[in-house]
Amino acid sequence: RKTAILISGRGSNMSSLIRAAAEADYPAEICGVISDNADAPGLAAAEAAGIPALAVTRGAFPDRQAYEAALDEALAGLGAEIVCLAGFMRILSPDFVGRFQGRMINIHPSLLPLFKGLETHKRVLEAGMRIHGCTVHFVTAEMDDGPIIAQAAIPVLPQDDEEKLAARILKMEHRIYPLALALVASGKARMEGGRTVFDRNA
Ligand code: GRF
Repeated sequence: RKTAILISGRGSNMSSLIRAAAEADYPAEICGVISDNADAPGLAAAEAAGIPALAVTRGAFPDRQAYEAALDEALAGLGAEIVCLAGFMRILSPDFVGRFQGRMINIHPSLLPLFKGLETHKRVLEAGMRIHGCTVHFVTAEMDDGPIIAQAAIPVLPQDDEEKLAARILKMEHRIYPLALALVASGKARMEGGRTVFDRNA
C-alpha cells in the first residue's frame, strides 16, 4: 500500500523504511516524503533513493488550518494511503489525525506510555531506569499516545550517556519501524475501538 513519510530532519528512520520497502515482498511502497523543513537532510536522502521528496513548510501558510490543508493536498497528490511520522516535529490537529485514523503511525524513542515528549534518553537516565526502548504506535489526537504496534527494549548500561543510549535505541528504531509498517500495510495489525488488533498469524 502506498505510504508517505513525514519528516523534519535527519531521516534515518525514513531511510530504514525506504530500504525495507525496496524488498520485493514488502507490503508497503514508499510513494513520497514530505518535510516541514526545507533544509532537512532527509529530503536529499529520499531524492537520492529515487523517492519523490517535497517540503511543505509551515511558514508558507497563514495558519495551521491552511498548512494542514496543504499537507492533505500533498499527501493526496502522492496517493498516500498510509502516513508514517518519522521525526516529524509538528503536532497535527485532531481533525487531521482523525482523517488518517488507523492509517497514520509514529515512532517514539521510549517505551510508551513512559516518557512521552522530548529528551527521552536524558529523562530515562535521570530516572535511573535500567531498561529503555522505542515504540511504534497508531497516531491519535494525544501526542505520543495511541495504540502500540511494536516495541523493542534494551538494557541501560552503567557506562551509558545520552549519546550512547540514543545510538543503541536508534538501531532498534530502524528495526521495529519497518516491522510495524509491514504489519499495518498488510492488515495484520489494525486499530479498532482504540486498541491494536493483531492477526493471529502476525
Ligand atoms: C527518532 O529518534 C524518532 O524516534 C524521533 O525522532 C528521531 C528522528 O530521527 N521521533 P530520524 O530523523 O529518523 O533520524
